[in-house]
Amino acid sequence: MYSLVFVVGTRPEIIKMAPVILEAENRNIPFTIIHTGQHYDKEMSDQFFDVLKLRKPDINLGVQAEQSNEQLGNMINKLGRLLLEIAPNLVLAVGDTKSVLAACLASINNQIPFGHIESGLRSYDNTMPEEINRRIVDSVSSILFTPSQRSVVNLLYEGIDPARIHFVGNTIVDSLRIFGEKIKQDIPKAADEILKKIQRNFIICTIHRISNVENETNLKEIVESLEEIKDISIIFLLHPRTAKKLEEFNLMSQFENIKNMIISSPVDYLSILSLMKNEKCKLILTDSGGLQEEAAYLRIPCITLRPNTERPETVEQDINKLVRINKIEIINSIQQTLSDVNIKRKFDEFVFPYGDGRSSEKILNVVESNLENLSFVSPEMYSSGSKSFFLIEIKTKISRSLVENNFNCTITLVYDERGQPIPIPDELKKGYWIRVSVN
Ligand code: UD1
Ligand code: UDP
Repeated sequence: MYSLVFVVGTRPEIIKMAPVILEAENRNIPFTIIHTGQHYDKEMSDQFFDVLKLRKPDINLGVQAEQSNEQLGNMINKLGRLLLEIAPNLVLAVGDTKSVLAACLASINNQIPFGHIESGLRSYDNTMPEEINRRIVDSVSSILFTPSQRSVVNLLYEGIDPARIHFVGNTIVDSLRIFGEKIKQDIPKAADEILKKIQRNFIICTIHRISNVENETNLKEIVESLEEIKDISIIFLLHPRTAKKLEEFNLMSQFENIKNMIISSPVDYLSILSLMKNEKCKLILTDSGGLQEEAAYLRIPCITLRPNTERPETVEQDINKLVRINKIEIINSIQQTLSDVNIKRKFDEFVFPYGDGRSSEKILNVVESNLENLSFVSPEMYSSGSKSFFLIEIKTKISRSLVENNFNCTITLVYDERGQPIPIPDELKKGYWIRVSVN
């Protein structure tokens, strides 16, 4: 038998790791849950373990936000010591937060295999700490679980060994499926309390991204945009970071006085599911990553208050709009989205990219069948001196296995006829280009 360590630190990590933890429990796999303590308010952490009926973290490192680098250093330090003691076969973490980066570095530095769930997402915006975290973690993870085909391509394009990449879908779909079942009978308490105060259709709004809340001009522009929304109610689920910044920038009383808006502290996962699934919920206005995915799955139009997203599939199919922080653009975009007569057709045509809600099973199947490959051993001797890469044009239709077996190589990247990188197919067509590493 092997053992696992799950590292979580923030709200979305708890929600997205929950189905994997439950699946490990079903399989009787021994595991330890370590919480870094990055999120520490009950509403951002404990309440999720309670309502999702998850085993409480075995260890909470209590590393709360101090200066950013200090927090990262403390997490790595504490995690490193613990992981050496526990000596698991694999450490798993999900997403792109500081806790994930710390878990990855603490594992790899101790030569303990690290598995990254939700790997390969890219916004190509290096001003986001999350993008830096994703890139560092993906480049050194022992095994990478991707949520979409697009993320597979992103990783291949960065030269990541295809043998380490496994497309499993996003575990948020497992959470939506499993926990969605639990709200069929009753409306959870927090959702019920909010719904009692609302008669009309509503927008769910969450904001917490650094670029929006640490910037006084942007935060004020968002508050003033919300003031202009008249024909529909707003449920604003207030992230603690945003609350602190509203106070600091003296915007809190203006924010609290917005008509048509109910402000709530962060609700538990069953409650937000219940709010999103309510037929009066017509729009999600957010800068959250997870909410963009959930909106797509639940067929709720989404407006993302960011210039870019690492979930571009939803934007390409026009069920999610990127909107810059400008009052007129935000208001126009909300009005257009709410009156979009084509929205049903857009959702009907939308090809949901994030899997079938069975990602947790797939992740643990992959873990079980790859345990032996995860150990830290130097690469084989290569006849060419090192694992080198060649780019070759495909002149005739040929199978992947024939190329790999006959030429003793591994195909690491495929470009289609248009020069676009694609997931490595079993059949290679004339006009493709392949990148190979010679064994
Ligand atoms: C973090 C993640 C972000 C993720 C988000 C999910 C990083 C770099 N950022 O952002 O990717 O989308 O979590 O919500 O890891 N605070 C509290 N109570 C809490 C948690 C935070 O008061 O329970 C306040 C503290 O003042 C803290 C600030 O919020 O300094 C920011 O918290 P932090 O965890 O650093 O970043 P988030 O914005 O939550
Ligand atoms: N969420 C929640 N309660 C709330 C607000 C959000 O349970 O009051 C959930 C939401 O449904 C999603 C996740 O938290 O699953 C998103 O977390 P967040 O926006 O903090 O982080 P991100 O996804 O941007 O990293």
